[in-house]
Amino acid sequence: MQNPTSILKKLNFFWKRSQFPSRRPIQISRIDKLIIFLICIVISIISSYKILLAPTLEGSDVFSWCLTFTEVLFTCGFLILISRKENPNINSRQILLIISLLLIVQIIKNIFGSGLSPLSLIIPPSLIISQGMGTITALAWVSIASLSWPDPITNINNNMLVITLICACVVSVLGGRIRSRAQLLQLSIFVPIGALISQWIFIGNEQYFLVDNQEFFTSSGKSFSDSLLLAIIMLITILFIPIFESIFGLLTKARLLELADKEKPLIRRLSIEAPGTFEHTLLICGLAEEATRMIGGDIDLIKTGSLYHDVGKLHAPNWFIENQDGSKNPHDEIDDPFKSAEVLQAHVDEGLKFARKNRLPKPIANFIPEHQGTLKMGYFLNKAIEKKLNFSERDFRYKGPIPQSKETAILMLADGCEAALRAMDINASDYEALETISQIVNSRQVDGQLNDSNLSKGEIFLIKKSFLNVWKRIRHRRIQYPTTKNNTFS
Ligand SMILES: [Fe+2]
Ligand SMILES: [Fe+2]
Repeated sequence: MQNPTSILKKLNFFWKRSQFPSRRPIQISRIDKLIIFLICIVISIISSYKILLAPTLEGSDVFSWCLTFTEVLFTCGFLILISRKENPNINSRQILLIISLLLIVQIIKNIFGSGLSPLSLIIPPSLIISQGMGTITALAWVSIASLSWPDPITNINNNMLVITLICACVVSVLGGRIRSRAQLLQLSIFVPIGALISQWIFIGNEQYFLVDNQEFFTSSGKSFSDSLLLAIIMLITILFIPIFESIFGLLTKARLLELADKEKPLIRRLSIEAPGTFEHTLLICGLAEEATRMIGGDIDLIKTGSLYHDVGKLHAPNWFIENQDGSKNPHDEIDDPFKSAEVLQAHVDEGLKFARKNRLPKPIANFIPEHQGTLKMGYFLNKAIEKKLNFSERDFRYKGPIPQSKETAILMLADGCEAALRAMDINASDYEALETISQIVNSRQVDGQLNDSNLSKGEIFLIKKSFLNVWKRIRHRRIQYPTTKNNTFS
């Protein structure tokens, strides 16, 4: 039998493993922390001050106020913690958005009391949060906003609260998955219809109860007006989501898909000015997408990230082998390994400049430095050794950082394997292809490039397998089919 310490150690290990992703959240400045804390205090005061307004204030009232105040303050902290766990890239503006939405909702609850439908109060913000910061953050926000009422909860119909909670949870779950604005519009129609039907069944007829309740506020036409108001507010919210995206730097699925459009000016420029890099990018997209699907990562993120990972090569396209037509190599002309290494590093630095100029969201810009990590520039390092130059290994390594997420790590591996797989003999066996892939992946592993990525051994195995599958598809495409005499197929 295992002793309690080892069981605790195992539980601790599984808890740590379950904390996805492993990336350390980005630091928030002190002033931002102070502002966020003050807003949390205001929310706690707004949510609890009514307890102190009792005509005869007793000790128990003060105790109950303290309890409510602390409870709301803690839930605010818990909400921030969850949002940072789910989105390690979350910045102070985005946290301010979540907390401010909670503040606004609590203020409206105070002003309108039970006069305003909780449906129109809770659901639209949950749509914004699920779209921008994911389902888990949205669910946490919904539970706090639904459960913390400044007024006594008996003033609100319990069935209405349950319907609101269910609808808000549906919006939070679907909102985190929806990939187009059209689907968002569908959601803004079907959720109010669902809410209307639920209200008719559970409140309108006063026959079925979701939970026991003391009071009903059912007047004819109320259900319809509530749902209509919800539909209108949801439509307005959808109209404003692009504005929220640009103000708060939210990365919605729809925004990711828009950025992945190959007609975007930066990608068009890449295809015209650096066609070799563009081809390399498309192949990498295929490899990375397949691997991400295999391990259950964020496919939209990696598809868009891979498209932009080498945009920095636009600063000097012909210095990169894939864009050279074989006539002359500028690296041979300068014959200086240090300068060549600088040009290679510049494709990362310039890429980050392009990302800033084109207002690429941070999670996409992260692919630019992290796909190279701190890898060695082997070719030029060997040249420096051949020339017996005085150098440190750091002169021939990219500046990093090493991949901080599973997606950027997959891109690094795909980037390494792409050229090798492309150059492979058409008659090579699956075993030979897998050997080549394994060598490249293992070299990056040994070099410590995957240390911060949180990729498990099993996932690395699946990534290798998926690269092999893509290579098989490429090989299949390259096989020459026999054609008939007049070159037609039957
Ligand atoms: Fe690169
Ligand atoms: Fe690349």
